[in-house]
Amino acid sequence: MKVPFLDLKAQYNSIRDEIATALQQVLDNTAFAGGPFVKKFEEEFASFCTCEFAIGVGSGTTALWMALSSLGIGQGDEVITTPNTFIATAEAISFCSAKPVFVDIDECTYNMNPDLLESVITPKTKAIIPVHLYGQMADMDSIMQIARAHQLFVIEDACQAHGAEYKGRRAGSIGDVGCFSFYPGKNLGAYGEAGAIVTNNAELAEKMRMFRDHGQARKYYHSMIGWNARMDGFQGAVLSVKLKHLPSWNDARRKNAQLYDELLANVDSVITPTEADYAKHVYHIYAMCTKNRDSVISALAEKDIFCGIHYPVPIHLQEAYKFLGYRTGSFPVAEKCADELVSLPMFPELGREHIEAVVEEINRFVVTHTVVNE
Ligand SMILES: Cc1ncc(COP(=O)(O)O)c(C=O)c1O
Repeated sequence: MKVPFLDLKAQYNSIRDEIATALQQVLDNTAFAGGPFVKKFEEEFASFCTCEFAIGVGSGTTALWMALSSLGIGQGDEVITTPNTFIATAEAISFCSAKPVFVDIDECTYNMNPDLLESVITPKTKAIIPVHLYGQMADMDSIMQIARAHQLFVIEDACQAHGAEYKGRRAGSIGDVGCFSFYPGKNLGAYGEAGAIVTNNAELAEKMRMFRDHGQARKYYHSMIGWNARMDGFQGAVLSVKLKHLPSWNDARRKNAQLYDELLANVDSVITPTEADYAKHVYHIYAMCTKNRDSVISALAEKDIFCGIHYPVPIHLQEAYKFLGYRTGSFPVAEKCADELVSLPMFPELGREHIEAVVEEINRFVVTHTVVNE
């Protein structure tokens, strides 16, 4: 049975008419750059995140960069994050002329290990970016406690965690700022590029709203140097439609994850993801751990079952970040994840029969492989 890693068409087909109406409204109002549809989505998304303010921007990468920059992070500053994230987290730090400093991750949640934070804080440290990887939030109480003790800003990289919760609190609402990506494949995905920043800080929200619009609050009166980082009207309209469905889509992802957990529980040599006691995981990605990762992926692909790797090379070992001077062995847990994690097909419309087919093939591989080894 063919099982894609992701099926954006299945979701589009389920909301086709709503999307067509929303896009037509943008056309009828010629509200293409920023405008009322973006404003409406910002209000809805702020409320969804239980935050006072949301600022729609062009991408998650831009959201992270604008948040750091608006908090005054710049040349000579250090910002702590994890090495097993999408490179955008580190790029945003670099684009502020600051230095990314990495800490290793927790082996159960794959998120920032707060016990390691104090050891990398220096007088230059200005902020911490916990990444809520795969849809599960990092241990925010511990991170916030350390950040407040050292007067550091906390920017949540919630680009994979729309609707995820920590002790009942929504992703993006705990740090000083939360940053989201609406890249099409995300739990809440636009039909193009888009992102958002959420915060409860009114002054910061105003600054970021001006920043994304050339530093102007009033057209052609520029009180600061900004950028063009506006969300476009079509994306605002699409996201408003899709936000209404997000809770049920996240529930469907959680159900799918539960089924994978159950079916994989009896399969040797695979470790299923852990949902921490504090967390409501929204399974942007369902990553299972196995020593035979690359062979499993190839075997499944031969049966038309498509998996992913998030991410094959941790950032500290990427060519682009060689200059930071880290080596293989610097972050053993992140490196083990890069070698052993495989992301199984995961999307809300995935059916029981698809999940059973994926697990059957994994099982077949494991059994055959054991036979070969003996
Ligand atoms: C953890 C993380 N941070 C940042 C980003 C960047 O978001 P975007 O692709 O919208 O720029 C992504 C997107 O994949 C992400 O997964």
